[in-house]
Amino acid sequence: MDTLTVHGGNPLSGRIAVRGAKNLVPKAMVAALLGDSPSRLRNVPAVSDVDVASGLLELHGVSVSAGAEDGELVLDPSQVEQADVAEVNAHAGSSRIPILLCGPLLHRLGRAFIPDLGGCRIGDRPIDFHLEALRQFGAVIEKAPDGLHLSAPHGLRGTKLSLPFPSVGATEQVLLTAVTAQGTTELRNAAVEPEILDLIAVLQKMGAIISVHTDRVFRIQGVERLRGFVHRALPDRIEAASWASAALATGGNIDVLGAKQGDLTTFLNVFRTVGGEFDVHDAGIRFWHPGGPLHSLALETDVHPGFMTDWQQPLAVALTQATGLSILHETVYENRFGFTEALVSMGAVIQLYPECLGATPCRFGQRNFLHSAVISGPTKLQGADLTIPDLRGGFSYLIAALTAHGTSTVRGVDLINRGYENFEDKLSALGASIS
Ligand code: UD1
Repeated sequence: MDTLTVHGGNPLSGRIAVRGAKNLVPKAMVAALLGDSPSRLRNVPAVSDVDVASGLLELHGVSVSAGAEDGELVLDPSQVEQADVAEVNAHAGSSRIPILLCGPLLHRLGRAFIPDLGGCRIGDRPIDFHLEALRQFGAVIEKAPDGLHLSAPHGLRGTKLSLPFPSVGATEQVLLTAVTAQGTTELRNAAVEPEILDLIAVLQKMGAIISVHTDRVFRIQGVERLRGFVHRALPDRIEAASWASAALATGGNIDVLGAKQGDLTTFLNVFRTVGGEFDVHDAGIRFWHPGGPLHSLALETDVHPGFMTDWQQPLAVALTQATGLSILHETVYENRFGFTEALVSMGAVIQLYPECLGATPCRFGQRNFLHSAVISGPTKLQGADLTIPDLRGGFSYLIAALTAHGTSTVRGVDLINRGYENFEDKLSALGASIS
């Protein structure tokens, strides 16, 4: 059930649509907890991370139902209650969403619980920034065998914080906690990803007062109450870029309806440098391989507005088809090149290095993390037996299998449902030979 047989070697061509961003939607759903009236979230994709968020909210007494519009969720937080710890533990599985419930639950109920967290196995993915921020707001955190129990005996108060790294999750944590904390919060070194700015838009609709200053500084003036929101989630720029890389790697032509140029500027520059062509139109962006050789390049992943780490793996597959040496320096996660081993087994020539092979020395230099990759191309890929390691790596395996000659068996494809809506239907619509 969880295995796809992929017959590669054919260009992917056709039109597909992307919906709301997986990296925004569950957070906006959590924000609904803070309202005193129901919220409506639109453009929600049918991905399993949304199901996990729905389940967790339901465990806390929020009713989640389908709205009138396709892809609309109605979230009613009027009956919020403490969830059973064992049920949260069982339901959360490998998801990291429970940690973002902390601020809103501490406000609403005075207590919260974080089970042992999972998420994609890419580096340690610690939560120290989250916990430190919550402590600064006045939360008390107790460690127990089943997870972390949090309380706020004196309520949550605004504070001055500075993140050691502009973490997306920790910035969201601060926003979701500060909006109804007493007094003003100043956050320095905040993440400014488009999904964060969209979450700020959601919170502003609810009545929050958040100002975004230059140099990654946010100021949040706590308010007493927030109401529900109506919001259309911004499109998923990671899914859009994944399909663009699939078009490039397979020599195809994919029109991605819903793709938004403004959130993809950095990706589009790289796509063009590698030799891909694109056309931005009113409904989306069409990406294609114009024929002829692709060009190698040197690239560093970075926080926004840099080249996003989640764009890296799908692009790496396309770079195996580019002429010359490409250099990738991963500066956001220390361990995001594990997926290249499978590409090498398919015939790619990729070598990993612990050094920072880029202009910017990063946090992972001199620490034995294999966080730089050199890809030599072009190489012919051959079909292989693959087991999916994580969400983005998993989609890259599919692209590699579709690029390769021969048949591949790709196991563990369920993981891809976490972030790619109906990916099997979309692949079929693009002419992929899968079963
Ligand atoms: C989010 C995205 C993920 C994306 C990432 C970076 C979601 C659901 N996921 O993940 O797709 O790749 O942003 O754009 O939105 N860190 C710590 N301590 C912490 C928190 C983070 O050291 O408490 C480190 C992480 O280990 C990592 C870096 O900070 O090295 C960035 O992580 P972060 O931005 O928090 O990623 P997520 O929010 O988990």
